[in-house]
Amino acid sequence: MKAIVQDVYGSADVLELRDVDPPQAGDDEVLVQVRAAAVDPGVWILMTGQPYLARLMGFGVRRPKVAVRGRDFAGVVMATGARVTRVKPGDEVYGTSESGSYAEYATAPERQVAVKPGNLSFEQAAAVPVSGTTALQAVRDGAGVQAGQRVLVVGAAGGVGSYAVQIAKAFGASVTGVCSTDKVDLVRSLGADDVIDYTRDEVDRDGPRYDAVIDIAGNRPLSLLRRALTPKGTLVLVGNGRQYGGGVTAGFGRQMLRAPLLSIFVGQRLRNLIAKERAEDLAELRQLIESGAVTPVIERTYPLGDAPEAIRHLGIGHAAGKIVVSIR
Ligand SMILES: NC(=O)c1ccc[n+]([C@@H]2O[C@H](COP(=O)([O-])OP(=O)(O)OC[C@H]3O[C@@H](n4cnc5c(N)ncnc54)[C@H](OP(=O)(O)O)[C@@H]3O)[C@@H](O)[C@H]2O)c1
Repeated sequence: MKAIVQDVYGSADVLELRDVDPPQAGDDEVLVQVRAAAVDPGVWILMTGQPYLARLMGFGVRRPKVAVRGRDFAGVVMATGARVTRVKPGDEVYGTSESGSYAEYATAPERQVAVKPGNLSFEQAAAVPVSGTTALQAVRDGAGVQAGQRVLVVGAAGGVGSYAVQIAKAFGASVTGVCSTDKVDLVRSLGADDVIDYTRDEVDRDGPRYDAVIDIAGNRPLSLLRRALTPKGTLVLVGNGRQYGGGVTAGFGRQMLRAPLLSIFVGQRLRNLIAKERAEDLAELRQLIESGAVTPVIERTYPLGDAPEAIRHLGIGHAAGKIVVSIR
């Protein structure tokens, strides 16, 4: 099968389109014919091997253990392992792969796969799993957003932010999004009640207070984010602001280390989010999508051979929604 493969860690220049053996599904896995995949900062981490700590977390110390890149996918189930019960061959599914999704075939644990939303194309569905799940867990679990609350989403225009705005609205919140000038109309179109263009204004010391602040951009001081919160409000730290910069500590911004400690001593709840890929959340996202409350935003779709270019584009750090890779 054709796949985007790398033998060593590095920039997108190390990626090659090659013929490789297709993966085989284990007992708890499904084999999927991939129709579309998507790009997210996790792909960048696996490609570059930075932060270095990631290599020690099982990705491969000297070279990537899994050579094929890509995680998000949407496609058709071709085969299922002996212990798989919820999906069957022929089902149209979406989820996250462990074998790499920039490929004609991919495997994924059943616990990371769900039936794809019926009203989405494969390209749209592939744009959902990692970013949609992260946004859902930030809004629902991290912030515990309730109807009528005021929510500030910092980094509202990107992969995670474009879902967070829509999900918080679907939960009945009043949402303010923070983005750059070019993205103001996009963030309003997602349902934001208010938008702060960070090139002109900033989350204001004397401005409104929010019940929840979801910081996806990750490049503002903790003190500023806390000032935007009500005395009992919740701050959820999702991003670290250095996702495409690499280095030893990228992925673990300073505020991410300080926030849980500080949270013990103040009335506000300050928490980090570590998202987990779960079929149950993909099923909840399917409901939100099929009800019309959430629609993936796709900035651009690249053919499989141009996946390195898709990753370079994401790496500029100013994506408008999601970047997708079309397989066939
Ligand atoms: N904790 C977790 O489990 C988890 C899971 C997934 C992702 N993440 C992290 O979440 C972060 C974002 O991921 P993503 O997929 O959304 O990335 P992305 O698609 O590359 O989006 C990045 C967004 O950041 C915005 N941005 C850049 N500088 C900004 C600033 N100063 N203020 C406000 N917005 C700014 C950009 O919008 P503008 O063009 O408007 O600047 C862009 O839309 C990354 O750090 C990623 O590693 C964490």
